[in-house]
Amino acid sequence: METVLKDSQYYIELENKHGAHNYHPLPVVLEKGEGVFVWDVEGKKYYDFLSSYSAVNQGHSHPKIVQALVDQAQTLALTSRAFYNNALGPYEKYVTNYFGLDKVLPMNTGAEAVETAIKLCRKWAYEKNGIEENQAVIVVCKGNFHGRTTTIISFSDDDNARDNFGPYTGGFVSIPYNDIDALKKVAKDKNVIGFLVEPIQGEAGVYTPDEDFIANAQAVCHANGMLFIADEVQTGIARTGSLLAVCGNCTCENKCEKQATYTKPDILILGKALSGGAYPVSAVLADNEIMEVIKPGQHGSTFGGNPIAAKVAIAALEVVNDENLIQNARKLGHLFRKEMNRIIAKTDLIVKVRGKGLLNAIIINDSPESDTAWNLCVAMKNNGLLAKPTHGNIIRFAPPLVITEEQLLDCVAIIEKTVLEFEK
Ligand SMILES: Cc1ncc(COP(=O)(O)O)c(C=O)c1O
Repeated sequence: METVLKDSQYYIELENKHGAHNYHPLPVVLEKGEGVFVWDVEGKKYYDFLSSYSAVNQGHSHPKIVQALVDQAQTLALTSRAFYNNALGPYEKYVTNYFGLDKVLPMNTGAEAVETAIKLCRKWAYEKNGIEENQAVIVVCKGNFHGRTTTIISFSDDDNARDNFGPYTGGFVSIPYNDIDALKKVAKDKNVIGFLVEPIQGEAGVYTPDEDFIANAQAVCHANGMLFIADEVQTGIARTGSLLAVCGNCTCENKCEKQATYTKPDILILGKALSGGAYPVSAVLADNEIMEVIKPGQHGSTFGGNPIAAKVAIAALEVVNDENLIQNARKLGHLFRKEMNRIIAKTDLIVKVRGKGLLNAIIINDSPESDTAWNLCVAMKNNGLLAKPTHGNIIRFAPPLVITEEQLLDCVAIIEKTVLEFEK
């Protein structure tokens, strides 16, 4: 029998031949992950500087999270919500205390949680806010990324995500990001019932709004009978140096309740790092008067709130506290941007660095249509660090939050070396 050499090329060709081409991955085939590191099938070790788009905040294969997953998988994996299970209630208590909202509606993926939040906001508006049937409008921002479902791409302005997927879902109005006056203007329409926003636009290229934008946006919402809906799927759970990005620049240790600048969302959307990347777990949280508009049979998911998800999410949130990931992200985020600015002073290749905590991006001095950022990412890969461009000329840097200062400086050295080599 012919033996097949199962190298990277083999796996890349398999995916190309048998998988839909809905992604354009960097040419690296990973087979193992631990903490901040991943290994390819040839055994080469890399720093993961993307963290599965901020799902692996707690690091790859975190032993506590993996143990929770294995233990529960061996005990009871799935009951569906036709029956109660003994993992969901304790998780619901834990997660609502953790984020300071009364109730949670568990889902699996980020997009499903966003869909859930949209349905919840609409139902609340019809049943509690006197909006006429089918008239409700939700405000979104230009440059948004909230997932890939038909409704969500209907209010995207990314042509590639949207084109030829119509007809589109109505009921949304789009304003420029970080534009409080535009929000005030649309809010005057009584049918406008909510504002769905990413506190930092991650996918668009890590756009951080003005310091007071989120708090002001919430105030505009409340002055106009609208719900303030924060999509923290990417920014939440310590990534930006606070528990949630809506927590702003507070200096407290951990707990939302204590945060002076905490802008509490009416609806909070979480995903990704809620499981530390070990399992698809997402959630929508809201206080009783909002969440209680949903009645049996009106929303759900076979896997939402399953026992594995419940146990994994508790473990993942405990790790955030146990290992001081908020503080680490904040401290190392400052160091990272300082180091990037030092490199920027030496090179014409990078225009700027921006971000918060350990969600950062560098802007490459070339057009979004150029392949410079892609080629730089390939060069960084060859030097042992994995990152990926977004929107052509932006490279997002989002390492696992368990990264140490020494490792971060090692990564800075790889980036610096690659950038300086690349310019030659
Ligand atoms: C802000 C935001 N919302 C929603 C999503 C969608 O999450 P998922 O890919 O799990 O559906 C993402 C994914 O990147 C995101 O960044």
